[in-house]
Amino acid sequence: MIQLKHLFKWYNVGGTRSFVLKDVSLDIAEGDFISIMGPSGSGKSTLLNIIGMLDEPDEGEYIFMDENVLEMKAKKRTQLYQSHIGYVFQAYHLLDELTVYENIETPLIYKDISSKERKAIVADMLDRFGIVGKKDLFPAQLSGGQQQIVGIARALAGSPKLLLADEPTGNLNSKQGEEIMDLFKQLNEDGVTIIQVTHSEKNAEYGKRIINMLDGQLK
Ligand SMILES: Nc1ncnc2c1ncn2[C@@H]1O[C@H](COP(=O)(O)OP(=O)(O)O)[C@@H](O)[C@H]1O
Ligand SMILES: [Mg+2]
Repeated sequence: MIQLKHLFKWYNVGGTRSFVLKDVSLDIAEGDFISIMGPSGSGKSTLLNIIGMLDEPDEGEYIFMDENVLEMKAKKRTQLYQSHIGYVFQAYHLLDELTVYENIETPLIYKDISSKERKAIVADMLDRFGIVGKKDLFPAQLSGGQQQIVGIARALAGSPKLLLADEPTGNLNSKQGEEIMDLFKQLNEDGVTIIQVTHSEKNAEYGKRIINMLDGQLK
């Protein structure tokens, strides 16, 4: 599904190159469930952002479903992202001026889905995550954990083939965290490919393989 070949990413700091990713190569098969671990600053979010097509490497190649991501037009890349990838962000990235309902509906608007069908999907998500009573609230009116749940519901609303999650349970209590990990496991069994960044050994064990990062390199 995904081939990353010799990715490099760097920033120029005071005239010298500071590498965030150093020669990262990785193959991810459809149906895989990968947990990425590593200390803060090791490049985990940068790698996930590149896989999620939100960032680009300075060097290297990225193939997604047999297409060369870095060489395609931006419009095509956006289309590819919107139709296949769900992203759970570390810091939620909910739209503050939209309600919970509207936040979850947003990715569906970009897809070719009728408004009736959208309503049904959002209702299903609200129900599945136990947030029906919150649907008309704005993100600022929710706790961090609740915002994270909305972020997860939004990522899954479009039935993505690939789910990317950056510390998805970081702001959840342990029971909520376990529920999310069980959900990920179920989604993976249903065929969704998952890449999660986590600091928790226990959550990492839900993956089929664990990848360790250190100083921008895979260990
Ligand atoms: N604009 C920037 N300029 C310089 N360094 C940056 C910039 N953005 C990110 N970095 C650096 O990239 C490194 C990797 O960051 P990140 O991918 O967020 O790591 P992680 O998710 O593993 O904590 C960090 O050391 C960070 O300081
Ligand atoms: Mg990070």
